[in-house]
Order: sequence, then C-alpha cells, then structure tokens
Amino acid sequence: MKIVGKIAQRIEAKEKAYGESLYTPDLYFDRMLYAGVVYSNIPHGILKSIDITEAEKVPGVVKIATYKDVPGTNKFGVITKDMRFLIPIGEKIRFEHDSIALIAGETKEAVEEAIEKIHFEVEELPGVFTIEDAIKDEIKVNNEKTNIAFHKKIRRGNVDEIFRNADLIIEKEFETDYQEQAYLETQGVVAYYNGDVMKIYASMQCPFYVQEDVSEILNISFNKVDVIQMETGGGFGGKEDVPSYIASKAALLSYLTRRPVKLIYEREHDIKETSKRHPSKSYYKAAFKKDGTLIGLKSKTYLDMGAYSTLSPIVMYRTLTHSAGAYKVPNVYVDVYGVYTNKVPCGAFRGFGSPQVLFAIESIMDEAAEKLNMDPWDIRYKNALEVGDETSTGHKLEYSVGAKKTLENIKRLSNYDNLKKEIKEFNKSNKLKKRGLGWSHIIYGVSLGAGGQHLDASNSEVHVFPDGTINIMFGGTEIGQGAKTAISMIVSEVLGQKLEKINVLQTDTFIVQDSGPTVASRTTVFSGNAAKDAAEKIKRNIIEFLCKKFDVEEKDIKINLGIYKIKDKEYSFEEIAKMANDANVKLNESGWFKSPKLNFDMENGVGEAYITYTYSTQLSLVEVDMLTGKVEVIKMWISHDIGKAINYDGVIGQIQGGAVQGMGHAIMEEIKQVNGKIITSNFNNYVIPTIKDIPEIIPNIVEEEFPYGPFGAKGIGEPSLMSAPPSIANAVSNAIKKRISRIPITMENVISLINEK
Ligand code: MOS
Repeated sequence: MKIVGKIAQRIEAKEKAYGESLYTPDLYFDRMLYAGVVYSNIPHGILKSIDITEAEKVPGVVKIATYKDVPGTNKFGVITKDMRFLIPIGEKIRFEHDSIALIAGETKEAVEEAIEKIHFEVEELPGVFTIEDAIKDEIKVNNEKTNIAFHKKIRRGNVDEIFRNADLIIEKEFETDYQEQAYLETQGVVAYYNGDVMKIYASMQCPFYVQEDVSEILNISFNKVDVIQMETGGGFGGKEDVPSYIASKAALLSYLTRRPVKLIYEREHDIKETSKRHPSKSYYKAAFKKDGTLIGLKSKTYLDMGAYSTLSPIVMYRTLTHSAGAYKVPNVYVDVYGVYTNKVPCGAFRGFGSPQVLFAIESIMDEAAEKLNMDPWDIRYKNALEVGDETSTGHKLEYSVGAKKTLENIKRLSNYDNLKKEIKEFNKSNKLKKRGLGWSHIIYGVSLGAGGQHLDASNSEVHVFPDGTINIMFGGTEIGQGAKTAISMIVSEVLGQKLEKINVLQTDTFIVQDSGPTVASRTTVFSGNAAKDAAEKIKRNIIEFLCKKFDVEEKDIKINLGIYKIKDKEYSFEEIAKMANDANVKLNESGWFKSPKLNFDMENGVGEAYITYTYSTQLSLVEVDMLTGKVEVIKMWISHDIGKAINYDGVIGQIQGGAVQGMGHAIMEEIKQVNGKIITSNFNNYVIPTIKDIPEIIPNIVEEEFPYGPFGAKGIGEPSLMSAPPSIANAVSNAIKKRISRIPITMENVISLINEK
C-alpha cells in the first residue's frame, strides 16, 4: 500500500498550530447575544416558584426563558425520558446543576448580573449520595419504585456447580470513582434561528443527536435543524449526549429572540453539570483450576448513574460484556445494576463502563497467580483468547485475535525476566522506595454492539473536482483523535490521489445522513468504510471511462500516488479528473457502511456482542514512596491489536494519550463532593496529568486484520485508556505487597494499606 500504514501529518495540523482553526468560541455574528444558565444549586428538592422580575430589569438583558417558554417536549433521555430540560414549578430538582432558567443578554456581564437576580424558592429534600444509600431505597431519586432502575445480566454455563469443584476461589470487592473527561475545550454552542432554519454550530461527538433533541425541544422538523461540527478540542465521551442539552439552551433563546446566541461553558459549570465516568462498586467471585485456568466467574456491579439515566443503560451493556475480561471462561454469571443518586449524571467516557470491571478482573487474575505460585504473565497467557475460542459472552471468534501476540510482544520488549530481577535488587537495597511491576490484558468490543446494531452505520460523501482535488465529508466527527487524517488516507489509497490534494469538511446534518455518534472506537471502521465505499464507486466510474476512451482493460491501468499509467503514458490525477469531468463522468459518490449482523440473546447476555474486538497488554513499572504513599509511574509498555494502523503516528499518539489519561484515573484524578455538591470544579483542584507526569511509554502495534474493517482496521480510541488503570494498580500492589481494590489509588489509600497489619 502506498499510503495506508504510513505516517501522515494531521491534515488540519497547520491551522491548529497557527491558531487559525475555528472553534465554537471563535464565532461571532452581528446582533449576537450571550447566554447563561440559572442553576438549582441544591441537590434535591421541589421547585416552588421562580421570580424573574428583578433580573428582567438588568440593562442589556434581552430574554429570560423558563420551562413555560419551551415549545416542545421539555424532556431529554436517550433510553428513558427521565430528565427535564428546564425544571417546571412543582417538580423535582435532582442534582445541584439542574437548570431553572436561561438568560440571553447583550453582554456576558449583563447575563451574569441577571443570574444573581433570579429568585426561586425550593423545598429541600434529603439527598442520596452513595450507591449504598441508593440501594436502601429509603429516598427515591427518579423512579417511584426503586433507585435500582436498570439491570442487565449474563447467564452462561453453570457457575454454582463450577464453584463446588474449583481448586481455588477468589472473592473480592472493588470500588472505582468518578473521572472527568477534562477535554481542554469546554462545552459550547452558537445557535442562530432566522425564523425558518435553526443553525447550530457546536463542539460535539454527534451532530445527529443534537439535531434530534433540538427538534424535539423546539418542536420543529429535522429539515429545519442544521447542525454543523466546529473544530473540537476533545470529547472523550463527554460530548456524546451532553451537547444536546447545551445546544437546546442556546437554541431556545435564539428561537425566542430570533438572534444568534452564544453559550460557552465556564469550566466550573462544565464540571458540575456534565457527565463523567460512573463510580462503581463490584463484588467478584472467580473459580480457578490448579493450573491457573479460569473456569467460572460470578460478579455483581453497581454503577452510580447520578440523577438521570442518560446513556447509562448502554454503558451498563458494556460493563456487562467486559466483566469477565479478555479470557475464555465458559461459566459466567454477571449482574450489572444502574442506580440513581442526587448527583451529576454519569455517562460516556472513553471505555464506556468497561474500565471499572477490567480493573476488577485484572486484579483477580493477579491474586490467583499469586495464590497458585504462577507468574502473572503466565496466568494471562494461559487464559488468553485465540481464533476458535469463545469470549465470555460466548462469541465464537473467527478472525483477528492478536491477544497472545500482544502478551508475547510486551514480554519481549520489556525484557521481563531481567526486569523482574532488577526490581528485586532495587527493593532489596531501598527501604523507603519500593518498585513494582503490573500487568493488564484486556479486550474491547468495537462498535455500538448487539443492542445498538440497528443504529450502527455511517455515511461518507466523496467529491472529486475537475482540478483533481478532493473533498470528503463523513458522518463521524473530528474531535482531535485524527479521524480526518485516517479517512483521507483511506480515500487517497483507493483513488490514487496524493494526501495534500484532499480536504475534509466539517460534518453537517444537512449533507450527510445520520451516522450515529463518534464513540465506541467505531469511526475508522464505520466512517472509514463508508468513505472507502464512496471512493471505490468513483474509481469504478473513472476506470470504466478510461477503458473506453483508451481502449484498454482495467489491468492495463497502473495507479501510483498521483499518477495513472495507461499504455506506457503517464497522466496526473489532475489530468484524469479533468478528462473525466469533461466527459460527464460522475465524480461525486455517497458511501455507506452498516454493522454486520450480530446474533445476541439479550435475556441471557449471550452471543455476538460486538462486530470485533481489540486486544491489549500493558506492563507498568511504578515506584511507591513508602512514607507518603505517593505513586510514580516510571514506564509503561503497551501493545494493542488494532487490526491495521491506518495512520501509524496517529495510532501511536492515541496509545500515548490514552495511557496517560488512564494513568490520571488510576493515581491522580478525584472528584470530591460535599452533600452532593462538587468542590473540585476546576483544574486547580481536579488534578490531571500534565507533561511532566508522563512516564516513558513503549508502544507496540499488532495487526491481525479484521476482514470487515477498512484495510483490516479495528479501533484504538478507547482501549488506549483502558489497559492503564489495571496495570498500574497491579504494579502498586506488587510494590507494596498489599492488594489495591480501589481506584483512584490516592496517597491516603496507599498509606492505610501499608500500615494495615
Ligand atoms: Mo465513547 S465513551 O464510546 O464517547
């Protein structure tokens, strides 16, 4: 291949480096208004009254909107419509950042002043702030019957019988906490309604979700809601469903004023209002044979959904299917529950419900190895999946299983046996600092999965101009991950045009068909395949034309990058495009890719859960300060089987970035709350890794091609994060000789374990 698998510069790199890219806050329109939100500021209560008279008198205030001004549904919910857009009088406030009113003004200052002058009365109610309290069901948050509103399960094989005959049983509880996506660009939108069409410019992962929700809130049809992707400074799941709620706010104000309205979130409001990774509590019981074979697994996981269910039921599906990890275990009983609490709603975050349980199962594997006197690498290798095996949901794997290769590569790259000796020596001669090594071996289901397969498709449009340049628009979005570059490389490879002649447009709901969200590590496969399909159609049109014109057969046309060679004469792609255009050849085409059919039994959680899987192995080296409990990650070796790297450097970038974000979750990041209110609402107290925290990273790519992927590609977006937390946790356990069972691994946590008798 000429382009695919090589290294390409980001196609939007220059604009970003020069500061020329247009992000949502960069947009200005004549007569544009600024918007602000009035928040409830209490976690649980009943709204009794709203008084806007004082606020309306603030000079520069143009419009104040409450629930009464909403022309459409006033409700949100991807699965269950359990969330109010603006809280009506007499109804419940369920978390500290529920929205009471919206204000549009000529200046930000006027809006800020008016926010202070809106008075509302609330009858406060006691709140539910922990999973344990939610399960007690004494106070109901958002369901009259129970806070345990959703349940998913796997029932495969016979776990109870297996436990009776096991050589070793490990039983353990695990806990994981929030993680904030911490995209550097906060949520933002500009909405402009001209009386006919609502235009929405925003930072998002799914313009189609925004189109649907704005349409329902305003009661206007889809063909009047044009949602346009702006340059986006990160999403990580946090811009999957959330931009719908934010865009609806700006859209309502624009609808009511017929003026452009800009709403850009301050970090504080972004952290307090928008979704995060779900805190979890898990109970695991695993059965092993003497030789280390994992023969049965029983687990129960509770996810803290917060006040509204949003994407939680879908997140739970991923928790379910990843609970038994990357191993061939035939007897599996898993229960996953989603519980309501009076806290910030949780939702999508890179990994989408899987990091919580991958941490648990990977800890169990280490503990089993220790009890059985095995090396933690050996127990993983013994249970790792191969072609012909079945996953924990009983998905028979027919191709693209590089799991063992990732394990082999990291063992070799890290010089593991030698490394172990070095660590032993280090620990012998150091009393106050202890080093440890920790493995993780994980699986990740690419695509929306069996439950979402009816929605799992993507459109891409490709247009070759008469001068040989090419425009692409795909249904996914560029959110900083490099999708534009990977997809233009695919089109470049198919059409034989150079990359620098290709341009990728921002996604626009008036042009491409609903292609679902840019999530689930699915964009390269879905939008990439759709772009490949469109490019292949154009290529067919061109070849057919050339065969007639030059009286040759297809095999006589040799395509090199930018050059078509016909009967020993060379034509540039530009010349070919001009010839074809002048002969009325169709040079724009639409491509489509939809999920291969997945057979899955939802009742028992058994069957083909995803279209394919990535497999990853990580080894981490950490150093623990035995006096303070501080953990330093020194080095990470990481291998991912991703089918095929389209843009080699892009993949390496994802591996590095994901691992550092995973490291942040493991040892640094902590959302702190007091009575349901977040107090770590900025980057001064919500601490994320910065450049000085980044350890040495040795990345490795395994390419076991996926037959349905573009040139064999699977995905790397999420697994890049997920291998890190369990590997680091296991390394800390290895260093301090006590098992870590809670993430984040805070200094307090480590010290109390060290001091435990
Ligand atoms: Mo992603 S967490 O699937 O937006």
